[in-house]
Amino acid sequence: MDKILVLNFGGQYDQLIARRIRAAHVFAEIKNFDEITPEEIRKAGYSGVVFTGGPHSVYAPDAPRCDASVLSLGIPVLGICYGHQLMAYLAGGEIAPANAGSEYGKTKLRTKTNVLFEGVPQESVCWMSHTDCVQRLPRGFAAVASTAHCACAAMANEEKKLFGVQFHPEVTHTEFGSRILQNFVFRVCGCSADWQMENVAEAAIEKLRTELAGKKVLLGLSGGVDSSVAAVLLHKAIGENLICVFVDHGLLRKGEGDFVEKTFREGFGMQLVRANAEARFLEALRGVTDPETKRKIIGTQFVRVFEEEAKKLGRIDVLAQGTIYPDVIESGKGSAATIKSHHNVGGLPEQMAFSAVVEPLRELFKDEVRAIGEALGLPAALVHRQPFPGPGLGVRVIGEITKEKLELLREADAIFREVLEQSGEKALPNQYFAVLTDSRSVGVMGDERTYGYTVALRAVTTDDFMTAEWTRLPYELLEQASSRITNEVRGISRVVYDITSKPPATVEWE
Ligand code: XMP
Repeated sequence: MDKILVLNFGGQYDQLIARRIRAAHVFAEIKNFDEITPEEIRKAGYSGVVFTGGPHSVYAPDAPRCDASVLSLGIPVLGICYGHQLMAYLAGGEIAPANAGSEYGKTKLRTKTNVLFEGVPQESVCWMSHTDCVQRLPRGFAAVASTAHCACAAMANEEKKLFGVQFHPEVTHTEFGSRILQNFVFRVCGCSADWQMENVAEAAIEKLRTELAGKKVLLGLSGGVDSSVAAVLLHKAIGENLICVFVDHGLLRKGEGDFVEKTFREGFGMQLVRANAEARFLEALRGVTDPETKRKIIGTQFVRVFEEEAKKLGRIDVLAQGTIYPDVIESGKGSAATIKSHHNVGGLPEQMAFSAVVEPLRELFKDEVRAIGEALGLPAALVHRQPFPGPGLGVRVIGEITKEKLELLREADAIFREVLEQSGEKALPNQYFAVLTDSRSVGVMGDERTYGYTVALRAVTTDDFMTAEWTRLPYELLEQASSRITNEVRGISRVVYDITSKPPATVEWE
């Protein structure tokens, strides 16, 4: 199987580069620049190497650099952004701040005929984010693309199969970015597209089997796609040594608890404990209105319930979680800003009574997790379920959470889902749900005045949940949902539709 090494120099996009390559069915793995030597790269048999971007200047004393001999292994290299400058520097070129100033955002790119740009028009749009620029090319290299501020937006030494691009082909804002990465992987490195998600699943199972041999593992199973896929991976790896704890915190959607119990206990034959902890969660959340505080409380209670269940079960060594990559970055990876504390990452309390945590999906994006789920033979209804956040309806009841408000939301949400799911629409939004706002308004029913809550309906279209568009649902469906909710749920007198994308909003309201 061909494989590409993504050598990380501190950029934010290492996972994205690997993911784009994997999407082309070529295996890609990430290593830090100081984690592997040129000799190890050669021995490992990589078909190509990609240098990622990074926030440094190549001349800074603490700039991350690999050994220049990586460029003479005979293995093709593609440098991106900082990686492009590093390649120029290592090969004897010169880098300096761009004469006309830095470039940030969508930029017009002019390309010359080159293997890297096959199928790319001479003029297209790329995504730039840089201050420095390659000012003098190393010997043997030619400039093969330019922008208004950067005469060397791409360079190539075709003989040695070394290429560099100042822009970011891995982000979707670069019009032909995927094509450029694919040209590198297939035309320059000669890889075959023979890598499938089954391989990741098999490799992950094998790795878990070795790592967790003889250990008892407790998994928090929510019944969402992520923890379900994690559960099946772990179950295949360690069988009876996996115990799933399903915390029924009273913040679940209608019918959810029974569905999860039935699917995993009866369907998969897993050891499953259902912890009924509704009273405890509602008590801990009483009077709390601040979203981050709610998340922290829910996260803490979750782990406390695990710990208590673990104690009842006897010896447990490891806590497993279905954390996926976007959870990790949105909870603040390194210097990235914290947007929300996802309950299974930033919300964890400091001291946990487990010696280790295992997160088998930590490096994957949602669509990849679904593909693994399919490869593992999980039923489509489960794999293609829309995501449901760990804090559940706790972050969809705005303001104080009470049992009564939860009940209203559960009913409204079930109606909205039913309307969409029974509409016969071919492509459902990627996520759709109801939110119980904290605002009440006056209505009229029959001849009576009503004063009920306002429900907001939310539906988004996205492929990775890092950004999302509000879904343009047909008016007839919105009408059906609105009229059914106001008729069938006493206590709700108004329904609105959320027309905000992410950014600037997030998918969930809290
Ligand atoms: P946001 O609201 O951050 O949501 O745009 C992006 C995706 O993540 C889900 N989400 C969570 N999932 N724990 C989770 O497991 C959480 O705390 C959490 N918060 C949001 C959200 O439903 C959407 O799919």
